[in-house]
Amino acid sequence: MKENHTIICYAAPMESLTTWVYRRTQAECFGAADKYFTPFLSPVSDGGFNRKELAEILPEHNDGLRVVPQILTAKAGDFLWAAKECRLRGYEEVNLNIGCPSGTVVSKKKGAGMLEDPKKLDAFLEEIFSGFDGAISVKTRLGLTSAEEFPAILEVLNRYPILELTIHARVRKAFYNGKADTESYEKAAADARMPLVYNGDVFCVKDAKKILENVPATKAVMVGRGLQCDPSLIRQIRGGDALTKEELRRFCDRLAEGYLETMKSEQNVMGRMKEHWHYMVQLFTEPLRYEKELRKAKRFSEFMSIVNRLFREQEIAEGAAFSGAYLK
Ligand SMILES: Cc1cc2nc3c(=O)[nH]c(=O)nc-3n(C[C@H](O)[C@H](O)[C@H](O)COP(=O)(O)O)c2cc1C
Repeated sequence: MKENHTIICYAAPMESLTTWVYRRTQAECFGAADKYFTPFLSPVSDGGFNRKELAEILPEHNDGLRVVPQILTAKAGDFLWAAKECRLRGYEEVNLNIGCPSGTVVSKKKGAGMLEDPKKLDAFLEEIFSGFDGAISVKTRLGLTSAEEFPAILEVLNRYPILELTIHARVRKAFYNGKADTESYEKAAADARMPLVYNGDVFCVKDAKKILENVPATKAVMVGRGLQCDPSLIRQIRGGDALTKEELRRFCDRLAEGYLETMKSEQNVMGRMKEHWHYMVQLFTEPLRYEKELRKAKRFSEFMSIVNRLFREQEIAEGAAFSGAYLK
């Protein structure tokens, strides 16, 4: 047994990337994550879930995987409605998103916007924890503009039986830029009363080990962009083999096939695959040239011939991992 065999690894929620088709394909090709979080669902109690959201939580689509529906709302009534709907479909846990940095979300005081006023957050949590008897986990950031906000936020969170608290170690203002603030995470960990999941810039095995060494109380690590770049990252963190080009080819083909079955239009499939390739292209020895070509492709057949050429002409670079260097 390898020393890091027991590292618990979650796949982060990522809008339009970690869809049910992606989750199934990634699990089938590389072994399942310990948990997958759906991209956020934004329910409204009078309108329910939309078609896309329903597909994410359809039990058949998540068969055999531990999937946690993530809910983004500032209305306790909407949260409770959605949590109960998830529960009816057999989900044992739902996740509350209080970390989304998007301008439109924050301006409605949702996502990271909920971190602005700890008193309001307290009232919201009081309502959802008293109205729902299933497990609720929470995904947060360290604050809106400064990690100094976090002690007050944590004091509120500590009052509730949160199943697990995932901390993306950045403030809202940082979006996804700069380095994750692992020091503030360490400080937060000392005061948190619930199990903690670390998130932010875990792009390789070393990153995961470092977090667990520095903060042994960390129950699990959650990987987002790193897993989008290298779909075998979780296997590697658990002590398994590095990705091969053949494996990546098979994964990409399966993923595109899955989208073709569900989306029906090749243009839409191309759009989706472009989002994945934005990350995956970084694995290759000469990514820049292909990145631009892939991004600019107009038709699916053209896109696929670039992919074919990339696989033919380039190798996976040794030690390749996500790096935000040339991506916004
Ligand atoms: C394109 C994109 C979409 C995302 N969508 C969500 C989401 O739906 N819910 C959520 O909680 N976080 C979302 N995130 C944040 C990720 O879950 C994660 O917290 C972030 O990428 C940092 O982790 P990483 O450094 O491992 O990528 C998204 C991030 C990106 C880049």
